[in-house]
Amino acid sequence: MITLGCIGCGNMGSAILKGLGSREDIALAGYDRSTTTLQTLKDDAALPRFTICGSEEQVAEHADYILLAVKPDQVEPVLARIAPRLAGKTVISIAAGVSQAALKQYSGGACAVVRCMPNTPAMVGEGIFALCLEDPDLGEARMQTVQDIFGAIGQVMVLPESKFNAFTAVAGCGPAYVFHFMEALVEAAVTVGFTRQDATDMIIKLCKGSVKLADESDKHLSVLREMVCSPAGVTIAAVNHLDRTAVRGNIIDAVLQARTRGQEMSK
Ligand SMILES: NC(=O)c1ccc[n+]([C@@H]2O[C@H](COP(=O)([O-])OP(=O)(O)OC[C@H]3O[C@@H](n4cnc5c(N)ncnc54)[C@H](OP(=O)(O)O)[C@@H]3O)[C@@H](O)[C@H]2O)c1
Repeated sequence: MITLGCIGCGNMGSAILKGLGSREDIALAGYDRSTTTLQTLKDDAALPRFTICGSEEQVAEHADYILLAVKPDQVEPVLARIAPRLAGKTVISIAAGVSQAALKQYSGGACAVVRCMPNTPAMVGEGIFALCLEDPDLGEARMQTVQDIFGAIGQVMVLPESKFNAFTAVAGCGPAYVFHFMEALVEAAVTVGFTRQDATDMIIKLCKGSVKLADESDKHLSVLREMVCSPAGVTIAAVNHLDRTAVRGNIIDAVLQARTRGQEMSK
């Protein structure tokens, strides 16, 4: 049995806690500035054994693994406060742009640190988590435990820290690209005469079905697309328009912009 204590139980922190709620081998605890947030988690059926802590320091004392899920600007002050209680523990930070070296420095080198980048589908147990397990203080057993924790609530990719900006630009920001595309399709459906509600329901189902097909089929994405594009048909007319207006090139450029911005912010 290990104890995972979360500091900052907002969108991502509570999503990770709820995802782990059914694991009987992980005791869960947490602290947030908002007592309402903590009480809501305590009352949540998905978290039958959640312990409320009264401070960040209490989480650090109580837990073996400390999940830091506060905003990036809070990481330094929180780690400075809990550093005296971190000997022998493991801090896992999901804060965007806060490097492993910074985590090590802010915690005074007192503990092992893991940098993790989640994405928002973690809120429904379908996240992708990049893990940087490069801290030599971690050791094999803890590396395995961290992968096991996140593997239970999504897909894990162990990456060198040098790949984190690239991962963030693709999968961290990715839900925004997907929702942007879905919103555009809803606008198109409204334009051709569907109510907004019908359009939204239709597009969600369209995306769910297409993702399931891509996931379960052994065919390449290009082949699945070609299956819809009959010669001289209606779909190829639309796809030709997407190609003439360089939609793929624009998506590639958008990801490159995000990676560049991430690199600037990490400096
Ligand atoms: N959302 C995403 O798509 C995403 C993706 C990847 C990584 N992340 C990272 O995940 C982290 C959390 O993001 P989020 O979207 O979950 O933010 P959030 O919903 O604002 O959650 C942060 C929570 O931490 C609380 N908090 C702040 N300082 C605290 C402290 N000293 N002690 C205890 N609780 C404290 C906040 O309370 P107050 O509201 O009172 O400040 C809030 O409830 C960020 O570092 C972000 O970079 C987010």
